[in-house]
Amino acid sequence: MKSAAIIGAQWGDEGKGKITDALCESFDVVVRYQGGNNAGHTIKSGGKTTILHIIPSGILHKNCVSVIAHGPVFDPENFINELKNLENNVQVTPNNLKISGQCPVITGHHKLIDSLRETQGPVKIGTTGRGIGPSYEDKVSRKSIKLQDLLNKDILYKKIKNQLTEKSVLFQNLYQVEFPSVEEETEKLFNLGKIIAPFICDTFNYLDKAGQQGKKILYEGAQGILLDMDYGTYPFVTSSNPSVGGIYCGAGVPYNQIDEVLGIAKAYTTRVGEGPFPTELDDEDGNKLQDVGQEFGATTGRRRRCGWLDLPLLKYAIKVSNLTSLAMTKLDVLTLDHFEKIKVCYAYKYKNETVDCAYPGINLNEVKPLYKELPAFSGTFDASRTNKELEQYIEVIEKETGIPVSMMSCGPDREQLVYRRPF
Ligand code: IMP
Repeated sequence: MKSAAIIGAQWGDEGKGKITDALCESFDVVVRYQGGNNAGHTIKSGGKTTILHIIPSGILHKNCVSVIAHGPVFDPENFINELKNLENNVQVTPNNLKISGQCPVITGHHKLIDSLRETQGPVKIGTTGRGIGPSYEDKVSRKSIKLQDLLNKDILYKKIKNQLTEKSVLFQNLYQVEFPSVEEETEKLFNLGKIIAPFICDTFNYLDKAGQQGKKILYEGAQGILLDMDYGTYPFVTSSNPSVGGIYCGAGVPYNQIDEVLGIAKAYTTRVGEGPFPTELDDEDGNKLQDVGQEFGATTGRRRRCGWLDLPLLKYAIKVSNLTSLAMTKLDVLTLDHFEKIKVCYAYKYKNETVDCAYPGINLNEVKPLYKELPAFSGTFDASRTNKELEQYIEVIEKETGIPVSMMSCGPDREQLVYRRPF
């Protein structure tokens, strides 16, 4: 296998960081292609917990070069903080981290407008407040400040001024708040640019050459397919394409050059922020999933909404991204220690019909989930031993989705990953 992609198959927080981290051993380059520091990839290893937001998980591996391609939006201030947090863990240099000069920059204004909309706007999305959506908006309206613009003060000044022409009217008249002036913002970003400059690279060229040299490339998705701008539960989505399509426009990889598209799914379902969630539990089981699974957002610390595994949504996600296999995570949460029985939603009742795939034409607010009840996993749950009930659960998932479960994660550590087929 030359290249693979790791894609969240639900609403994000599926444990992608952990799976990427485990697979990094076999790859030379790890690439982020969309999203921004709204992502929170948690990696536990050797008693240490590392949370990464924009830096690819490959950074923790000596053999890997980490690349932030042109697709993600980039917050210079937040990046410097992330670098500082990594200082005691790993040496980050321009040799092991390369950032595209073409990334759209997140400015102070983007963050301000994100939080104003969430607190005062007519529709609350439940964003991470990191300015991701507003920065992508400026990209689409052809007003982005690209990372390389930070190196030229005149260009930077002009571009910030251009972005602020309309936004200042919103700040002054609609929201009536103070906001950083063009001069302040230029000075701040120009100074941050000096620190970031050594990492800036033509990542298209770098990845093109790496491919030609036969290097193995891993694309690390952030968020999940159901938060995809085009395929997700719009408008309750993020502003990029976490699905496989995002790789082609966000990293410059030629179509058809990804051998394995590994979908990561939790053994149950979680969601942060607003939006429909058919299997959401508002009961004791939901609280248990939340407590046992420690379901708090890595980026915002928010409590995640919880529910049983939703196979109609998973089947849809598989179609959207042509997933070739699944990695199921957090299986250790569904043991007899916590639950007598577990449930899995295999179809919905919708307008008097039974539907088994959550096609976009279906209003997820109006479906009634149909459940199969299964035994919780018994005994001391040990990843290295086969577990009858666990195998039964995996069988149901494979049969319903039609693709294999190639990995199972049964606890937070690297050692608790079971490979059901070689990678
Ligand atoms: P934004 O990406 O901050 O604009 O937020 C849009 C939606 O995506 C909100 O529902 C967020 O909670 C959700 N979201 C963004 N990033 C993540 C993530 O890394 N994990 C899970 N949900 C996320």
